[in-house]
Amino acid sequence: YKRITTKTLVDMKKRGEKISMLTAYDYTMAKIVDGAGIDVILVGDSASNVMAGHETTLPITLDQMIYHAASVIRGVERSLVVVDIPFGSYQSDPKEALRSAIRIMKESGGHAVKVEGGKEIKESVKRILNAGIPVMGHLGLTPQSIYKFGTYTVRAKHEEEADKLKEDALLLEKAGCFAIVLEKVPAKLAEEVAKSLTIPIIGIGAGGGVDGQVLVTHDMLGMTHEFNPRFLRRYLDMYAEMTNAFKAYSIDVKKGDFPNDDEQY
Ligand code: KIV
Ligand code: NA
Repeated sequence: YKRITTKTLVDMKKRGEKISMLTAYDYTMAKIVDGAGIDVILVGDSASNVMAGHETTLPITLDQMIYHAASVIRGVERSLVVVDIPFGSYQSDPKEALRSAIRIMKESGGHAVKVEGGKEIKESVKRILNAGIPVMGHLGLTPQSIYKFGTYTVRAKHEEEADKLKEDALLLEKAGCFAIVLEKVPAKLAEEVAKSLTIPIIGIGAGGGVDGQVLVTHDMLGMTHEFNPRFLRRYLDMYAEMTNAFKAYSIDVKKGDFPNDDEQY
């Protein structure tokens, strides 16, 4: 295998080769995702929802993100590992942003960080990049701003917000970001952004005209039930599979069928 780097991703875009990206928050899952040949593993702050059961991504802390990222890194040989900087750990000022990014790199061994927003966080992005830490942007539906949006519906449907998104994407490319996630925006807008930039655009609910796709692993495996956006394709019904396995185990235990003669010492 050859390790994926931020440069690999930019080269892939040049060649027209699509980029695959999935989330992981722990060693065992990361090992499977990496082994399957997924290009980028995101240690997303969606861990706040998926791992901890919070309603939003806001409560997860920098220490918790570092714990998840360090676990993921131990399972990865090939994928590029990108770590979300959580809400409240970069918005105050560029120094705080750099301190948080440095902690993630030193304490988890992650390969890059991701931050949400454009113009508002420009100085922070530059500061992190100046320290030699690769930055992935994230525009469109940025879940750390959910209380500002008030809804999880599609973003940038209208001209004003679409124009700001295009400006922000260009600004992030100029600042030196190696890629940008575009979440839940019209496919036509996402394609336009992807075509106008040289860095890869990774979409989630942003259509097929972008340079790669990302999904939350637990969602695409069908482990989560309640979350049903149009963009989600489920590759397994793990919820049903796991429920069946747990029920079968319980029945076996209760009727004394497990363990059998071969399953003991
Ligand atoms: O935290 C996350 O999982 C993300 C992806 C949905 C892009 O930011
Ligand atoms: Na995130």
